Amino acid sequence: MLLALKAFSTTSCFETLRPYAAGCCASGLYEARLAARHMGGHVAVYSPAYRADELTELLEFAHHIDFNSIPQWQRFRSQCLSHPRVQSGELQLGLRINPCYSTGHTPLYDPCIPGSRLGIPANELEGVDLSGISGLHFHTLCEQGAQELIDTFRAFEKSFGALLASPRIKYLNMGGGHWITKPNYDRQALIDLVKEIKECYKVEVYLEPGEAWCVHTGVLKAMVLDIFDSLGYRHAILDVSASAHMPDVLEMPYRPDVYAVRPAGEACGTPALQLPAESYAAAAEPGELPHTYRLGAPTCLAGDVIGDYSFHTPLAVGDELLFDDMTHYTIVKTTHFNGVPHPSVQLLQENGTLRTVCALQYADFEHRLG
Ligand SMILES: Cc1ncc(COP(=O)(O)O)c(C=O)c1O
Repeated sequence: MLLALKAFSTTSCFETLRPYAAGCCASGLYEARLAARHMGGHVAVYSPAYRADELTELLEFAHHIDFNSIPQWQRFRSQCLSHPRVQSGELQLGLRINPCYSTGHTPLYDPCIPGSRLGIPANELEGVDLSGISGLHFHTLCEQGAQELIDTFRAFEKSFGALLASPRIKYLNMGGGHWITKPNYDRQALIDLVKEIKECYKVEVYLEPGEAWCVHTGVLKAMVLDIFDSLGYRHAILDVSASAHMPDVLEMPYRPDVYAVRPAGEACGTPALQLPAESYAAAAEPGELPHTYRLGAPTCLAGDVIGDYSFHTPLAVGDELLFDDMTHYTIVKTTHFNGVPHPSVQLLQENGTLRTVCALQYADFEHRLG
C-alpha cells in the first residue's frame, strides 16, 4: 500500500503513516525526491511523460518507473536497460495501460474517456517489444468501492490477462481512487481480490490511494469578514478563497461541508480546535435552515464562491467556519491567487494543542514568483 503524494505531502505526518505504507507513489521527480527523503521504502513513479534529465535522476533511486506511452518507453528503453539498478532488479520498469473501462460518471476525472491520454490501450501494444518491462499499472477509479475495482480488474483481465500471466510481469499496480477508509468500503472483497491476483498471476500487487489516507482528517478555518445583501443574495465574505485555498471546489467541482461554526467571541483566543465528533455538517443546503448565505472569497474573481449554505443562527463578522475534508488535494494544490496569504498548516495533537508545521510568509510568496 503506497501513499499517493499528489493527494497529501505533509511530511510531518509521515511518521504516523509509515507503519502502514510500503512507500509512496510519486508523479515525477520532485515528489519522488520527497518520498525518498521523508518516507523511505518503495518509490513508485508514474508520469504522463518524463523529461530526459528527470528520468536520469529517477534511475538512481526509484523502485518502479511506469511509462505512459510506447514512444516514451522506446525513447528511454536502452538508457533504462543499461542501468545497473535495472540489471540488478532493484528498479523495475512498467507501463500504464488503459483498460478502457469507466466506472465513474464525471469525464473530467475519468482516465478512460474516449480520447484519454492516460495509459496505453490494448491495441497499441500489439507487436511492441516489451522485453525489459516487468510491471503493469492502471489507475481508473475515483472515490470508489471494492466492487468497481473488481469490475475494472475483470475488464483489464480480458484485454491484458495474457500479458499479466506472462513470466516477465512481476508487479501489478492498481492505482488509486479506492475509498478504503470509508466505513462502508468492503475491505474483505479487496483483500480477496489481491490474494486471487497474487495467486493466479504470481505478481506483487500495489495500490496507491491518496485521498483514502486522510479523508475527513483536516479542516480549513475561515473567518467571516463582511456580511451584506446584494442582488437577492445575502453574502458572507470570508478570508479564504476557493481559487487560492480550496481549488477543487471550482475544479472538480465539489461542495465542502461546513464542519463547525464558532461564534465571534469564542473564536478569538481559543487555544485549540475542539472538533465536534458527531457530525460533519453544521450547515445545510440553501433554504433548508433559517439563515442562508453565499460564502464568497476576498478576491476579484466573480466565480470565487464556495457555495450557498444555510445555518441555524445568523452569521456575524468575526465568526469562524471550519470546512471539512481540507487535507487531501487541498494543501498540495493551493496557489497564491491575488496574493491572498496561505493558511498555516497545523496538526491537532492528541493532547488537544495545535502544532504549526508550516507557516508561509510574504517571503515564501515572493520567492515562488521568482
Ligand atoms: C496514477 C494515480 N495514482 C494514484 C492516484 C490517487 O488517487 P486517489 O487520491 O483518488 O486515491 C491518482 C489520482 O489522480 C493517480 O492519478
